[in-house]
Amino acid sequence: MSIKKIIAIGSAKGGVGKSTITAALASSLSKKYKVGVLDADIYGPNQHILFNIKSKPEFITLNNKKLIKPFIKQNIEMISMGLILDSNKAAAWRGPMLSGAVKQLSNSTQWSNLDYLLIDMPPGTGDAYLTIFNDMNIDNFIIITTLNNLAFADVKKTINLVEKFDIPILGYIENNILGSDIIEDNIFQKKKIEKLGSFKFSKKMEQFNIDNIIKEADEISKLLSKKC
Ligand SMILES: Nc1ncnc2c1ncn2[C@@H]1O[C@H](COP(=O)(O)OP(=O)(O)OP(=O)(O)O)[C@@H](O)[C@H]1O
Ligand SMILES: [Mg+2]
Repeated sequence: MSIKKIIAIGSAKGGVGKSTITAALASSLSKKYKVGVLDADIYGPNQHILFNIKSKPEFITLNNKKLIKPFIKQNIEMISMGLILDSNKAAAWRGPMLSGAVKQLSNSTQWSNLDYLLIDMPPGTGDAYLTIFNDMNIDNFIIITTLNNLAFADVKKTINLVEKFDIPILGYIENNILGSDIIEDNIFQKKKIEKLGSFKFSKKMEQFNIDNIIKEADEISKLLSKKC
């Protein structure tokens, strides 16, 4: 198994479209590349819903190691804690259990040789981020944000954390779910972080599933594949 590029997609702010955009980019990139998606959101996994998967994953034993077979849809491999755990139980987990689970999930998945592994990050800047940044060789980070001052305040925390781990930020994607504010303190301009593209509010995004094709995602994924 080899993975050429691991890209984490996140923002400290919840509900800005990280999961939907990760799936939409995976769908676009998969037209040309072999893509995997790791749903690292233990408390609120969503990728299995976007991929429309209801069954449980298969486990296999290889060289005495128990491995999980990822789900495959549209030639995209996906694994989500939502498919392994009872998410009501996981909701009661605390820091160390949670970070151990993300690490185990990523190490125990039997990925094919992938061009891109996209990691759908949970909201916040807590344990899950620290574990993933420490334990996985993340090549790049993409920030998702809505266009309002509160989201931008949280973006600063995200940038600080990513910079502490020396992970290059490829750029940011605007998700126009809420309309737009006049941003008082634009951290992206200050840090010269490139805008990779934007998504409009749309029914297709609101009801996204992996079979959809989203024009904006196609454009962004072309740019991404040139950059990394
Ligand atoms: N461009 C869009 N147009 C319309 N609805 C959208 C758009 N992007 C996301 N949504 C909707 O907004 C909600 C939040 O999206 P999503 O779950 O992808 O965000 P998230 O950042 O992953 O959230 P969380 O922080 O909880 O993980 C969902 O109901 C989704 O369907
Ligand atoms: Mg999410």
